Amino acid sequence: MSLLSIENLTKDYSTGGKTFSALHGVSLYVNGNECVGLIGESGSGKSTIANIVAGRVSATGGTVTYDGSLLTGKRVERSARNTMQMVFQSPTDSFSPRMRLGKGIREGLRYLSDLPKSEQEALVEETMRRVGLPIEYKSKHVTEISGGEAQRAAIARAVLIRPKLLICDEITSALDAEVQEQLIELLKELKREMGMAFLFISHDIRLVRSFCDRVYVMREGVIVEQGGVRSLFEHPEEDYTRRLIEASYLQDAECEG
Ligand SMILES: Nc1ncnc2c1ncn2[C@@H]1O[C@H](COP(=O)(O)OP(=O)(O)O)[C@@H](O)[C@H]1O
Ligand SMILES: [Mg+2]
Repeated sequence: MSLLSIENLTKDYSTGGKTFSALHGVSLYVNGNECVGLIGESGSGKSTIANIVAGRVSATGGTVTYDGSLLTGKRVERSARNTMQMVFQSPTDSFSPRMRLGKGIREGLRYLSDLPKSEQEALVEETMRRVGLPIEYKSKHVTEISGGEAQRAAIARAVLIRPKLLICDEITSALDAEVQEQLIELLKELKREMGMAFLFISHDIRLVRSFCDRVYVMREGVIVEQGGVRSLFEHPEEDYTRRLIEASYLQDAECEG
């Protein structure tokens, strides 16, 4: 059985008396220890999927099953999501600007609060060291460090509990190319060490290609194509996918001047 299994997921948003269907029956799965990419143009529904899995947005229809528990419907166990974590595009979605980073990172342990304070502190420090952050940063605020450092802190917070699933929603898109590469290297190492699975959302085809095993392509709330990264990016079947790939190469060329 897959770690995460999404069947026929739908989502309608209602705003100002109008209903907009953001997802039209999406099915996908992520196996344990597998790294699955989700790509597609802006507004195609990627974040909606991530937010439904993480419990930040409710589904309209369909089912989400995670690690043997049903996450959709009325009676979801509180603990069902304890082994999944999410990292966002903006570090301020992970950390309040008023909170010191040490405390913010330690919040990743809220489900393991029976751990003695001293052990929590030791784990925070060990994890900060592991992601390449100086321990002194415990007393800093997220606004006082660089974007790349802040994402390392968000990753530290997310991996404290050694999650089975890490959902990453555009976590590199605010960073420059060199910092992006470093962050992906860190994720690769952590994946090797901890063996977690990823749902990795990115519009950066190059990063998805270097990091993921399989990929789903989304357009207007529908998965239009899926496959292993190599075959999909080398031989896309859909014109839409081909255009996404070409657009990412154009972006690269512009960045490199
Ligand atoms: N809270 C919301 N209310 C109304 N519409 C929304 C809301 N969140 C997202 N949408 C719409 O749903 C569609 C999918 O959004 P999203 O999942 O954020 O796409 P992506 O992450 O692929 O850019 C977009 O058209 C977006 O405008
Ligand atoms: Mg998004």
